[in-house]
Amino acid sequence: MNILVIGGGGREHAVVMKLAESKKVEKIYCTPGNGGIAEYAECFDVKATDFNGVLALAQKLNPDYIFIAPDDPLVMGMTDFLEENGFKTFGPRKNAAILEGSKSFSKSLMERYDIPTAAYREFDDAKKAIEYIKNGKYPVVIKADGLALGKGVIIAENEKTALKAIKNIMVDKKFGDSGNKIVIEEFLIGPEVSLLCFTDGKSVKPMLTSMDHKRVWDGDRGLNTGGMGAIAPNPYYTPVIADETLRKIVLPTINAMANEGTPFKGCLYFGLMLTPDGVKVIEYNCRFGDPETQAVLPMLKTDLADIIEAVYNETLAELDIEWEDGACCCVVMASGGYPEKYVTGVEITGLDEKGQLENAFIYHAGTKFTDKFCTSGGRVLGVTAKSDNLAHAIRNAYASVVKIDFKNKYYRTDIGQKALIAQSS
Ligand code: AMP
Ligand code: GLY
Repeated sequence: MNILVIGGGGREHAVVMKLAESKKVEKIYCTPGNGGIAEYAECFDVKATDFNGVLALAQKLNPDYIFIAPDDPLVMGMTDFLEENGFKTFGPRKNAAILEGSKSFSKSLMERYDIPTAAYREFDDAKKAIEYIKNGKYPVVIKADGLALGKGVIIAENEKTALKAIKNIMVDKKFGDSGNKIVIEEFLIGPEVSLLCFTDGKSVKPMLTSMDHKRVWDGDRGLNTGGMGAIAPNPYYTPVIADETLRKIVLPTINAMANEGTPFKGCLYFGLMLTPDGVKVIEYNCRFGDPETQAVLPMLKTDLADIIEAVYNETLAELDIEWEDGACCCVVMASGGYPEKYVTGVEITGLDEKGQLENAFIYHAGTKFTDKFCTSGGRVLGVTAKSDNLAHAIRNAYASVVKIDFKNKYYRTDIGQKALIAQSS
């Protein structure tokens, strides 16, 4: 089987490396890929959102499957477009990707199908939104309706911040049309769990759970980022909570989408919060999470190519998906200054040492290879290790991190610590 993977971050590197382990997969292509992916896949220059470019590439390569990893092409309808042109894909159609593409859609679906989530109101008029928050409780959560590069959620501690957020999103259009509508949500408290699920639209196979670390500094302080590290499995997700989540959230969501005539096929990501009133949905993503994928996929025992086929053929119920015991930890190495201003084009050294530790993987996110590896983005590498227990996995990931060097490198030193504490309590 030949596969074309769309995307070029750490998540895509993890997908490509998993596919490279497959007995079935002969050739892997990736566009645009990155410096690390190029070791496993033939990479091309076509952007992930360039529909005609991707189609032309697909027509040239004629892959058996096209795996669409990022949110924007999925929300824009790349699956529909490629399938209409005769290609088999992994990734939801536009009318299912809207679960991530519109918070107004997902909140209304959850309300109609009684799926637990934060109470909310939606507004398409800034004046009405301002009136509403003036009488409200704080903190309050303000979300742009559409995609916003992970920056469209503002937790406002007071009226001043809330007013600024509404102005930024709805009046100044900081996120373009994504801010035509906003959702204002009740602030929830509790540990967060990322749950990725394979689904063929009819049946669903949850993966190992994981924990993201979104804030830039140790101790979950500082600005929100695309994710500074992840561990799997998430120790907060006990069997009792797993049962509740499956019954009240996962199955009702899959069934709701099927019932609406828009079945979700691909990977559905549930961002969950374990609140004192039970598990609630914080967000849906229509794809694999980043950096969660880098901590989850290394633990997958089943051939990923078999899963891709089963999802496409809607035979997922018949496939037994197996996971390794133990744990995995991914530490993101970033360019100093990220998520704000940072420099790129800096040489990275120490990458060739990856062979020294067994079960360590270095996923490239923002790297470029010319005659040497250089940085090309804010999040540069996802340095990952798996082991039979979480403490070891964390230790081994950091043992790899310290071997890698580039000017102004930055990483959190506490990835997985919260999970270790949860595990021992
Ligand atoms: P997102 O950018 O959609 O991944 O959301 C960013 C983060 O905002 C989530 O991971 C949560 O930590 C936080 N968040 C979103 N909605 C709520 C909420 N209703 N209550 C508390 N925190 C929230
Ligand atoms: N790690 C969160 C996301 O992928 O959106």
